Amino acid sequence: MAFLQIDHVSKFFPNPSGAGQVCIFRDATIKIDKGEFVTVIGHSGCGKSTLLNIIAGLETPSEGGVILNGREASGPGLDRMVVFQNFALMPWMTVFENIALAVRSAYPEWTAAQVSAHVTRYIALVGLKGAENKRPAALSGGMKQRVGLARAFSIEPKVLLLDEPFAQIDALTRGVIQEELIQMWNTSRNTVFMVTHDVDEAILLSDRILLMTNGPEARIAEMVHVSIARPRSRETVIDHPHYYKIRNHIIHFLVRHAKHGGHYGTGHQAESGDPVVVNFDEATVSAG
Ligand SMILES: Nc1ncnc2c1ncn2[C@@H]1O[C@H](COP(=O)(O)OP(=O)(O)O)[C@@H](O)[C@H]1O
Ligand SMILES: [Mg+2]
Repeated sequence: MAFLQIDHVSKFFPNPSGAGQVCIFRDATIKIDKGEFVTVIGHSGCGKSTLLNIIAGLETPSEGGVILNGREASGPGLDRMVVFQNFALMPWMTVFENIALAVRSAYPEWTAAQVSAHVTRYIALVGLKGAENKRPAALSGGMKQRVGLARAFSIEPKVLLLDEPFAQIDALTRGVIQEELIQMWNTSRNTVFMVTHDVDEAILLSDRILLMTNGPEARIAEMVHVSIARPRSRETVIDHPHYYKIRNHIIHFLVRHAKHGGHYGTGHQAESGDPVVVNFDEATVSAG
């Protein structure tokens, strides 16, 4: 069994314009290994945040379930930490206090000195040394998101859930923080499940990219392997021979095949509803 298994998860919400329910997405089945970095891309409204919130335990699945490390994960827990796009920091707390709050809740047996050393280490990892005593109002968007990432990584959760963490950050700063995220992930090798709509970001960071069709009744139609060796950097990744193949494939999917019900990409959907596997390394597109 995979480390994190999203098992035939469907989600229905009450229909906003009448009776009954709307199916947001159907039959999402994803198996993620320990230490993998998996990204979901899809158009706005297809249900990416809903899926991430189900994994986080902040939302319940209508059908199916989430299994983490062999046990059903229902309800929130410190083993699954979310980084939101709107940062979600405590405004009255300093940078140091925001991170320390999370560390103390994850490691209640630690002494104040242990907590302090740990927080200081993560503040340095995201380049916030010197800003320890600032409050969120005094920080730029990029700095706030660095606090959010440091807070999430500092509790060393089994799974990190990132919901478009760079959506509110300008393009130049975003690139810098993406590289910091790579650095942190290289040392921690957390299992990461990330939502984005930035194709280049997904290729830079991910082992695999899941492509979701438009809603309602969205599906995870394809699973693209990013066959580019690590370590990666923004500068070297674009020279890789697979880079533009992967990028073009995803953009074609988003432009032409985002509606459900048709044929997806160049492969054929497996009978089981599992996503089509796309792997440019083996020059194959296969079902299964
Ligand atoms: N609590 C809710 N109640 C009713 N509908 C919701 C709720 N949360 C999300 N939705 C609807 O579910 C769909 C998917 O939303 P969301 O997961 O936020 O999409 P995405 O993150 O891909 O943009 C949208 O149509 C949204 O309006
Ligand atoms: Mg969203």
